[in-house]
Amino acid sequence: MRLRDLGDDFTWGVATAAYQIEGSPDADGKGPSIWDTFTHKKDWRGKTPVQDGTTGDVATDSYRRYPQDIALIADLGFDAYRFSVAWSRIQPTGSGKVNQAGLDYYRRLVDTCLEAGVEPWLTLFHWDLPQGLQDTGGWTNRETAHRFADYTQIMAEALGDVVQHWMLFNEPLNIVISGHLVGAFAPGKRSFPAYFASLHHVNLATGWGSRALRATLPDADIGTTQYLTPPIGSGFGPLADLAARSADAVLNRAFVEPIIGMGYPWEEAGILKGVKAYMRDGDVEEMTADLDFLGIQYYTRLRAPFLPIPGLWTVPQFGGGGGGAETTSLGWEIMPEGLGMVIDAMNAYGKFPRLVVTEGGASFDDVLADGRVHDPRRIAYYEDHIAQVADARARGVPVDGYFAWSLLDNFEWALGLVPRFGLVYTDYATQERIIKDSGYWFAEQLGGTARP
Ligand code: FCB
Repeated sequence: MRLRDLGDDFTWGVATAAYQIEGSPDADGKGPSIWDTFTHKKDWRGKTPVQDGTTGDVATDSYRRYPQDIALIADLGFDAYRFSVAWSRIQPTGSGKVNQAGLDYYRRLVDTCLEAGVEPWLTLFHWDLPQGLQDTGGWTNRETAHRFADYTQIMAEALGDVVQHWMLFNEPLNIVISGHLVGAFAPGKRSFPAYFASLHHVNLATGWGSRALRATLPDADIGTTQYLTPPIGSGFGPLADLAARSADAVLNRAFVEPIIGMGYPWEEAGILKGVKAYMRDGDVEEMTADLDFLGIQYYTRLRAPFLPIPGLWTVPQFGGGGGGAETTSLGWEIMPEGLGMVIDAMNAYGKFPRLVVTEGGASFDDVLADGRVHDPRRIAYYEDHIAQVADARARGVPVDGYFAWSLLDNFEWALGLVPRFGLVYTDYATQERIIKDSGYWFAEQLGGTARP
């Protein structure tokens, strides 16, 4: 397979997120985000919620090293760079006065992309809510959805002349379930009311944000991204079916259907009725977003045992996946067919004009030796998953982009600096970037100049 055979209209990109790479947590007037707070929180034993005790205070230092990172993206031959904006650089407390230095920073970043021939794809929210908004309830407070629409409007006005591709949210599933029910991600809440409220308010914010963008930038390419899994029930017979159906409702449909005007699938998972307490008249319409594309993010399938709260502890970060199949270093089952399945499932709604794979990738125990990182399993992972995208296109599905997670090894949330997802190896002691074999593979395929 040659990647460029997917066509000239197919976008090849790499993805990152602000908190995972930027560092410089209080540079140029930035306010704290919930991830700054969360990673510094200590329990009575002095342990933080991050497995290796690290934080994103430095990460890959990309706030300062972005020119070098963007040059790498161009050398690897990619067409596009998907990055996220740290809201608290723009509005330090999440509302009110705009911090011009924050806007200036992202304009420099976008200009650097454009000069390098790399298309900027901007994600507005990749989990780092300003702490100031958390202090008034965060996503459990409906007001936060209004503040998100305000912030979206600010960004559209500030960068609409240079940014064509916009994404509202990165994976609401992780904000809502990992952040408000399981508590493994910021803000670390563990409650059903927080789960239901945040679910509904993030969905509302998607609708409102999409309309704020469209009103300001009628010709922009507007999308949002979702973590998707083909839930396959474990066990046998009717119970496995039931498990699969209810997990699908809780993990996929509760995030996808509200934003396309279908409301919540509570007939498949009664637990979702909890959301009704937060709904107001007209909310089904308010949540319906005006989108040009859906961003599909697929890493692994989640196994869904039949349990009273279906699916919730199958999120791979918390021990799901596995079951004898080949896995990544995080124990995430490698199942390329799953990507084809979720692409087909999203296409079947008939509501998304286009689909883009906005994230996919794998962490392995990479070793740097003599200046090289040999990562054949990552190359195989990409080949097998991209083959699924090619097959979907051959079936006529309008999927027209693929973004690798990630450009470089970075701060992997509650798992810290140990997992390595990059096409480029980060030496955290020196901040040296070393292109892995998988990076060279993309460069050779995409017509980039990087060679070993
Ligand atoms: C996705 C996240 C991304 C990164 C990868 C490994 O769920 O969107 O930030 O953590 O997983």
